[in-house]
Order: sequence, then structure tokens, then C-alpha cells
Amino acid sequence: MEGKMPVCVTGASGYIGSWLVKRLLERGYHVRATVRDPGNKKKVNHLLGLPNASTNLSLWKADLTEEGSFDDAIQGCEGVFHVATPMELLLLKDNAGMDEIKSTTVNGILSIMKSCSKAKTLKRFIYTASVYTVAMQPEPSLFDEYTEDNWSDVDFCFDRKMFGWMYAIAKTSAEKAGWKYAEENGIDMVTVHPALVVGHFITPCTSFSIDAATSLYTQDEVAMGSLKGLHGITAVHVDDVCNAHIYLFENPLAKGRYICSSQSFNISDIAHSLSLKYPSIDIPNKFGVLDKTFALPCSSKKLVDLGFKFAHEHKDAGDLCAETIESCKDKGLI
Ligand SMILES: NC(=O)c1ccc[n+]([C@@H]2O[C@H](COP(=O)([O-])OP(=O)(O)OC[C@H]3O[C@@H](n4cnc5c(N)ncnc54)[C@H](OP(=O)(O)O)[C@@H]3O)[C@@H](O)[C@H]2O)c1
Repeated sequence: MEGKMPVCVTGASGYIGSWLVKRLLERGYHVRATVRDPGNKKKVNHLLGLPNASTNLSLWKADLTEEGSFDDAIQGCEGVFHVATPMELLLLKDNAGMDEIKSTTVNGILSIMKSCSKAKTLKRFIYTASVYTVAMQPEPSLFDEYTEDNWSDVDFCFDRKMFGWMYAIAKTSAEKAGWKYAEENGIDMVTVHPALVVGHFITPCTSFSIDAATSLYTQDEVAMGSLKGLHGITAVHVDDVCNAHIYLFENPLAKGRYICSSQSFNISDIAHSLSLKYPSIDIPNKFGVLDKTFALPCSSKKLVDLGFKFAHEHKDAGDLCAETIESCKDKGLI
């Protein structure tokens, strides 16, 4: 990567962002990592300690709520990976704050894309979307599985108010705004749509999907509520998600939206698997009536047909959760 222009990663301190930074540094990229507070050692030390960080990583202060704050970090970059999102959206119980967070998400992607236009050096803009921008649809569906042709129905989300409905609306609105801007301004945009992201991590604290993955072990009521709300969703290993981001950045044939999902993530199967792995822990096995939001699986055929290989697809959902649990234990978080 000698002589190459740098790439920028937004939300670099988070679960997926930090693993993406790690993988990019390993591939020899020069990475500009944006965080809201570069002076907050607790939020950035795990990045600064990565292999190659001393020579190839720089931290930049930027906030989705401040128009233009990504200009400096993106100036001179050949790629931008826009990962940042206020994830507290997933846990909001009523719509107080919804407008503010939706505008942060929508204005945030537009602010970053405007910075990309100003830079004039960008080859590709990769946006971390979600299966939540694809699969929130009224049933019964006409299909057997969701593909990139499907878009979540924001009116349905608003009416149904299923788990994560505000997140679904905000992410779907942001993605649509991004596609419109890309088309009107000639930005090469590719979107990645991860299912629930689980597996080991390098952040010093947990985040939404880590808490959900470990909830049957920790028996944290709020996180178990999330896991029940996610019933039927598919999952994917964090390493596969980050490698898919890089693959889609580097592959000249990549175009459009790509679902990134490899395992079914059924709560009863996870409970059974974890009870075998941790016989001394009383893993819950009765879950009552479960939400049927994710009635159909999301297919990664388009990504696989492009040539991407999932390295962790042979693991089952219990293996992925156990890996997340072990990462938490190693860090003394549980
Ligand atoms: N985890 C999943 O299961 C999953 C699945 C599908 C898609 N995704 C998508 O993946 C992305 C990352 O998720 P994650 O699980 O890694 O979440 P995370 O660990 O909570 O990280 C979120 C990141 O967003 C940043 N952020 C939040 N509000 C911001 C703002 N106003 N301005 C700038 N940065 C802001 C945070 O930065 P600070 O450190 O500065 O606070 C943090 O680094 C999100 O876009 C999410 O929608 C996640």
C-alpha cells in the first residue's frame, strides 16, 4: 500500500469500526480514524495499541451532528468507510428523541458525503447499513428470503413499533438519502448490510450486539429483551463483516447494496448450545411468545457471487455467542 492515499473510518472507536481499523492496518492501509473525542484515552487506546498504528494510524475529531466536521479527515482520502451511528436508537422505548437521532443519522451521512465531494480524491464510499434497512416488511411476504432488492417499509415500522423500529426508520432514511446524494453527485457508493454482528472484540467496553450475544449467559434483562426482539434475525461474525467492507472497497466490480449475513440466530438454538458449553450456568430456555419481525432470512448470495468468502460460516450461533462471552471474560467485563 506504499504511496497509496489514506482511507477514513468513521465510528472507529466502536465495535465494528475498531475491528475494521485493525484489519485495514494489517493490510497496510494508512487509516484516519474519526472519533468524537480523541483525547478520551478510554475510547482510543485500543486503536493506538494496534499493530502498525504508530506509523499508519491517525485520530481525527468529528461529529455527525456538526456539518463539515469530517472535511479535514476526508481531505486527500481515496476511501471512506462510514460506520458511525448513534446505536442507542435500538434501545429507545418511545419516540422522544427520535427526530433528533434521525436527523443525526440522515444529516450525518450527507455531511460526510459532502466532505467526500469536497475532497475530490475519493474512489469509493462504503456505508455500513444494516439488514434493518432491508427486512422490516409486512408479512406474509411474497419471497422465501430477503435480498438487496428489498427495502424496509418505514410506514410499517412506524405502525408496528417492533423492536428497533426507530433504528430501522433512521437507518433506512439515511441510506436512501445517501443513494440520492451519490446519484446526484457522482459518488461511487457501496452499502454493506450486516445481520446481527457478533464474535470477539477489541473495544474496552461492550456495545449493543455484544450485550445481546452474551445476554443468556449474563441474564441481563435488558439485553435478553433485545435478543428476544431480534428473534429470527441472522448473524455474522465481526471479522467477516470487516473483511467484506474491505473486499467491497477493493473490488472494482462491486456495485450497489450487499447483505452480509451467514448464520441463523434462533434464541432457542443459542440457549441449547450455550447450556452444553456452560453446564454450570443456568441458561434460560423458556422465552414465551417471540416477535416475528425477522420472518425470513437475509441472503448474502450477491456478496458470495462477487467472490467473497465467509471465514466463520461453519460456526453455529452458539459458537459465535460463546466467542463473544469469552472475549468479555478475558476483559473482565463479565
Ligand atoms: N452491531 C451490529 O449488530 C450491527 C448490525 C448491522 C449494522 N450495524 C451498523 O454498524 C455500525 C457500527 O455499529 P457498532 O455495533 O460497532 O456500534 P458501536 O460499537 O456502538 O459504535 C458506534 C460508533 O458510532 C459513533 N457515533 C455515535 N454517535 C456519533 C456521532 N454523533 N458522531 C460521530 N460518531 C458517532 C461512536 O463513536 P464515539 O466513540 O465517538 O462515541 C461509536 O464509535 C452502525 O452504523 C450500525 O448501524 C451494526
